[in-house]
Amino acid sequence: MPPLRRLPPDPWGKSAKASTRELVSLLVGDRRLSMALLAVCSIISGIAEAAFLAVLVSIALALVDHPKTGAQHSNLFHIHAATSTLVIVAALLVVFRTALLAPLAILPARIASRVQARLRSELFDSFTAASWGMQSREREGHMQETMTGQVAQATGAALQATSLVGSAFSFLVLLAASFVLNVEAAVIVIVSAVVLFRVLRPLNRAGVRRARALSDAQMNYASGIAQANRLAEETRVFGVAEAQRAQVGRQIDVSRNAFYRMQLIGRLAPNAYQSAISVMLVIGLAVLVSKGTGHVVSLGAVLLILYRAGSSGQAVQGAWQSLRQCIPFIERLQETRRRYEASRPPEGELPLTGIATLAFENVSFAYRPGRPVLSDISFEVAGGDTVGIIGPSGAGKSTLIQILLRLRLPDEGRYLVNGVPAEEFVSADWHERVAYVPQEPRLVHASVAENIRFFRDLDDEAVERAARLARIHDDIVGWPKGYKTRVGPRADAVSGGQQQRICLARALAGRPEVLVLDEPTSALDPQSEVLIQESLTGLREELTLFIIAHRMSTLDICRRVMVIQDGRLAAFDTIDLLKEQSAYYRSASALAAGATGAELL
Ligand SMILES: Nc1ncnc2c1ncn2[C@@H]1O[C@H](COP(=O)(O)OP(=O)(O)O)[C@@H](O)[C@H]1O
Ligand SMILES: [Mg+2]
Repeated sequence: MPPLRRLPPDPWGKSAKASTRELVSLLVGDRRLSMALLAVCSIISGIAEAAFLAVLVSIALALVDHPKTGAQHSNLFHIHAATSTLVIVAALLVVFRTALLAPLAILPARIASRVQARLRSELFDSFTAASWGMQSREREGHMQETMTGQVAQATGAALQATSLVGSAFSFLVLLAASFVLNVEAAVIVIVSAVVLFRVLRPLNRAGVRRARALSDAQMNYASGIAQANRLAEETRVFGVAEAQRAQVGRQIDVSRNAFYRMQLIGRLAPNAYQSAISVMLVIGLAVLVSKGTGHVVSLGAVLLILYRAGSSGQAVQGAWQSLRQCIPFIERLQETRRRYEASRPPEGELPLTGIATLAFENVSFAYRPGRPVLSDISFEVAGGDTVGIIGPSGAGKSTLIQILLRLRLPDEGRYLVNGVPAEEFVSADWHERVAYVPQEPRLVHASVAENIRFFRDLDDEAVERAARLARIHDDIVGWPKGYKTRVGPRADAVSGGQQQRICLARALAGRPEVLVLDEPTSALDPQSEVLIQESLTGLREELTLFIIAHRMSTLDICRRVMVIQDGRLAAFDTIDLLKEQSAYYRSASALAAGATGAELL
């Protein structure tokens, strides 16, 4: 295998189990300024809250001292101010804190939404750049679930990180305030907060384990429903909907269990924290009062501020717990993205201006080590040739054309284009010159024109020309909305044969030099078969054609035919020579002549 293209440094870090620091930096990495702003707002909000509470207590004390006049003798700040002034100050503080609500709401929302978009686009980009081998191995529904559900859960980590920053700074400010008012009380709260954090760690880890179970369960569920969607028709026909419901039902149950446990722990831990800190608070106060420590006037304020600090501590614990529970989802994204990127095929640098020859030189390929699917295949095809490929099912025909299309790299041997290893050519040049029609047509949910255009910059004229060449134009103009008719994978209005011809038009629209077809099976209607055959006959002069033939009649248009058997090139000759030399060809033609379906296996 040639060396893989150098990738930019992996921002996800080295191991699948990333450290918390690594994860936090990953989630807020490019939003440092917003995070700093959030921290500043949280600090100011905390100070405003502490001041508000202190002023509130001062007002209460003033009213207790002089209910009638409200004149101040003893207040927390030893400031001689009228109660009315204090009330105004309190009101201003409330207004100020309310104004702070805006940045405190905007910043987390902005950070989380950007993190979500970044995770999605990075993951999608790495998927689309991954090798075909990796893409084709992806289990049904997994890619979708990773990019939607798992990303949503991982985004939770960004939200929790912002809550963590917010609540941690309010907590610290409230603690600082209580230090000013009463050192002993503040120390008691700090010590109990730290002790509680340690005590609750096992609960924290249990939460992470449940989250991991949930992540797995969701992937299985996604796979189950994707399969149900794909097999809807078969499920109906075989009348097995009940069994399928039971199977997906079990996956739903596993998910529900994991979700329930994760939520339970996620809620239990902060609540346990809050109760424990309240008890500590009462004990601490009892100690203070019994020892007569501190100014009795300040005790009321301390009590209030410490209680608020306890709530902030709970918020810190809750955010921390939830952040940790997002980690398994982030790890999965990290692992998936790394897998995709490691598989990225090398990018060539040579420009490709035309394809004169295509050659395999002792090419071997295996999906699993030690089990070769193609062995030692060598051939050369010149531009303009028409090559049929036949052989028993499982012989390796599709694998061969995947190498031919540069979807897979040979394990051994070389694939040469114009005498140069194919992978050395710029892939954009390659894609412009080589097209493919798969065995199963796959349409996108869009108009016929867009299906033919297929994300490329082609004008209507090119689209119509391709449709004519593929013998689908007459069908299209017969539909009420013509080229604007919306089609899709399950469009009833479009028959299998028409879908196949739309895919042929798609392949021809880019004016390729080489066209590879995995010929449609016998499911094709006779009319479409004739039309496609006609089309290919017309194209023979303009293109290099490779056709995996499932029907004997297809071979009529081929100049030469490859016989693939057990992963080896058993023969590659003109039909006349094959008739003499290839036992497989003779038995296949005899079978086809006898069978009305004229099928080649
Ligand atoms: N993605 C894959 N992973 C593992 N094995 C595969 C894969 N695709 C095909 N094979 C195996 O490789 C062999 C050749 O398959 P294929 O090239 O599809 O044959 P053909 O097109 O001639 O029917 C078969 O044994 C098949 O099971
Ligand atoms: Mg095949």
